[in-house]
Amino acid sequence: MIAVKNNVYTISTKSTSYVCAIRAGKYIENLYYGRKIGTDEFGITQEDTVTALKEKYNNCYGNTIEATADEKNITLNSLKMEFSNPATGDYRMLPLLIRRADGSLVDRLYYVDTVCYDGVYEESEATRMPYAGRHEVRWSNTPGVKQEWISDVTKRPMTLEVILGDDDIVVKLIYTAFEECDVITRRMVVINNGKDSIVIQQAAGMMLDLDRTDYSMITFDGLWTRERHKNEKFLVSGTYSIESTMGTSGNIHNPFFMLKSNEASEHFGDVYSFNLIYSGNHKEAVEVSEYGKIRVMTGMSPYNMEYKLTSGQTFYTPEAVMSFSHEGLNKASYNNHQFVLEHIVPRQWAHKNRPVLINNWEATYFDFNKHKLVKLAKEASALGIELFVLDDGWFGKRDDDTSSLGDWFVNERKLGGSLKSLIKNINNEGLQFGIWVEPEMISVKSKLYEKHPDWALKSKSGDTYYGRNQLVLDYTNPAVREYIVNTLSELLDENNIAYVKWDMNRPITDTWAGYGTESGEFFHEYVCGLYDVLHRLCDTHPNVLFEGCSAGGNRFDLGILSYMPQIWTSDDSDARERMYIQGGTSYGYPQSTMGAHVSAAPNHQTQRLSGIDTRFDVASMGVLGYELDLTRLTKVEKEAIRHQVSIYKQYRELLQFGHFSRVREDRQVTTWQITAEDKLAAVSLMYRFDAEPSLSYERLYAVGLDENRRYRVRNVASKVSIKTFGNLINMVSPVKIKEEGVLQAIIDNMYAMNGETEEYIVHGSTLMYAGISLNQRFVGTGLGDGTRVMPDNSARLYIIEAI
Ligand code: GLA
Repeated sequence: MIAVKNNVYTISTKSTSYVCAIRAGKYIENLYYGRKIGTDEFGITQEDTVTALKEKYNNCYGNTIEATADEKNITLNSLKMEFSNPATGDYRMLPLLIRRADGSLVDRLYYVDTVCYDGVYEESEATRMPYAGRHEVRWSNTPGVKQEWISDVTKRPMTLEVILGDDDIVVKLIYTAFEECDVITRRMVVINNGKDSIVIQQAAGMMLDLDRTDYSMITFDGLWTRERHKNEKFLVSGTYSIESTMGTSGNIHNPFFMLKSNEASEHFGDVYSFNLIYSGNHKEAVEVSEYGKIRVMTGMSPYNMEYKLTSGQTFYTPEAVMSFSHEGLNKASYNNHQFVLEHIVPRQWAHKNRPVLINNWEATYFDFNKHKLVKLAKEASALGIELFVLDDGWFGKRDDDTSSLGDWFVNERKLGGSLKSLIKNINNEGLQFGIWVEPEMISVKSKLYEKHPDWALKSKSGDTYYGRNQLVLDYTNPAVREYIVNTLSELLDENNIAYVKWDMNRPITDTWAGYGTESGEFFHEYVCGLYDVLHRLCDTHPNVLFEGCSAGGNRFDLGILSYMPQIWTSDDSDARERMYIQGGTSYGYPQSTMGAHVSAAPNHQTQRLSGIDTRFDVASMGVLGYELDLTRLTKVEKEAIRHQVSIYKQYRELLQFGHFSRVREDRQVTTWQITAEDKLAAVSLMYRFDAEPSLSYERLYAVGLDENRRYRVRNVASKVSIKTFGNLINMVSPVKIKEEGVLQAIIDNMYAMNGETEEYIVHGSTLMYAGISLNQRFVGTGLGDGTRVMPDNSARLYIIEAI
């Protein structure tokens, strides 16, 4: 709901309120953002509420600049505002920097008016960027009818435009309220109504001022194979910021971040969260002001930004996303998850079960032929896997990463025939077929480069920088986009392709190419060009499941998710590392967006050994796939995988779309739980990082169940490799088994010991408040009936079902 009355605007969602007032006829004062308050209810008039919330100033502080002739006691450096101009005495960071043709700054944009209406921002399509609700709205050609909302009436958003301006320039602050998931989105629009051009040097999507400073900023940072690790910084004084200048949202800092009050935890307390529907350079910053307040900004990075707006032109920032929870980090995550599922990802995929896949990359890398691929598919099919994904190396002359990007034509020599015939073979094994592409890239050794060297981004100086031997295509050039759309449309239309993995394996450095897009406009134009291509390919192939990828999770953001419902979370599929990566990602994104694979042990990225069941347990908390050579598995491993796939399919809907919670982090154990919305079932994952000697008792706690129902809790049976015990096995074995010897290998291939079986019947309240005391862990003094063998890096799944 949005209400505008007497110069006050109130945006309410299910559990939050956002209240602003126009002050001195010029400024927009933020009166409150947080847990829902009554404004017109309980006999409290809006006027009373505003009087109570408004900041009171009787005397101006020393050494400050006075705001305005009408309210001389205010200094703008202290006032909580929604927008602020430069050169007015507000010395905090500012959302907009515009220079006029004569070099002067645009510095006096004041409140003019507000407009409020049903639905999303009326010019959403003109922004050339994805926006929340994009898949729910049908744009009408009927004059006067701008948009038709096609989803459930209760889910309809409302939009408010707050208009500011001077004689030449109009700035609009756009708010859209998504009631049921407690999300308010924001963006800023700049219109040049003057005669001369202006240059935008900085434009944040939103600025928000909050009371108090007792918060920490939680960001999700990393690198290749180490994406989105959670980092918490206690705010003291000064500015805390994260930024990407890689041309993509990047793996160094995800645009999603949170502000957690110091007393809050996963389950209680005040938490704000912010994100951006954008896949390019971005900057997020929090400034603790000297007056005990916080200013938050999020939007495009100002790095190399010089955006020229000629007379009559409009500039749109990407849409920023805000949410507030008074029930801790988990509820904040839940709001974001609901928002992503209901308003970001394509509707046809939002709640659609995703297939279990086998990807040949870590099974074969570039070294494959038709025989190998079909053999892998046959094995996968026998294990219950549903989709075969052919990764890098199928096109041009690509046998390593030095050539052929851009030549999206099948290498018939390597595949022993046409793509159609390979797909037929795969389909005959009962599997769907998927394919890898990297359409934003070009290899110098390629037919495409021979023909169009000016399509590649380079340095004008000639000293060009390469990443993985490749260059980036100039997506600001319409001819490049046309080529990609046509080539890939043909690939998709002529072949029975059910899935596409869209990769992007190097960040952008140089911004110059034959087409001549200005360097200061390049990064934003690149992203808009990418969205144009994605719109023309993904939206027109609604039955193809697209999975985003960028050397793993280098571009995991709401922009990509607007076209592709899932993203390859990381090239690192080591179970322990995935606990950090998927755990970090879970704060902002639901588990159905995270590709998660079981790969080989030792792991190809970390060389760590973890059991086949542990690898599955962690991968089952996302969209499950396998990425290892299934033709070289032991009998025990094959049986394990067959069992895993059947368990996953049985609980797939719950695992992919249930309510994800981070339950506990206690000593070396982390517990996550995915719960059905009706609370009738849940799956828990318990992951042990390091074994702690003589601390063998553990409790399984649950969250979000029905207190008054009875539940059956049982562990998913797992197998224990005899190798786990090294030469200790000789204490029980009738024949001597040498550690790492041939006999040990033969036994391990054929046989594994049964792990513990546990089953309990308990009330929801018991499970949530008292926890279940689990069987004792192996402590080195004997292996009893039901001992839980849980060494370093091991996991267990527990199924919880109402009875
Ligand atoms: C990237 C991806 C991998 C794989 C390779 C192929 O690194 O993240 O999953 O597709 O490219 O070159």
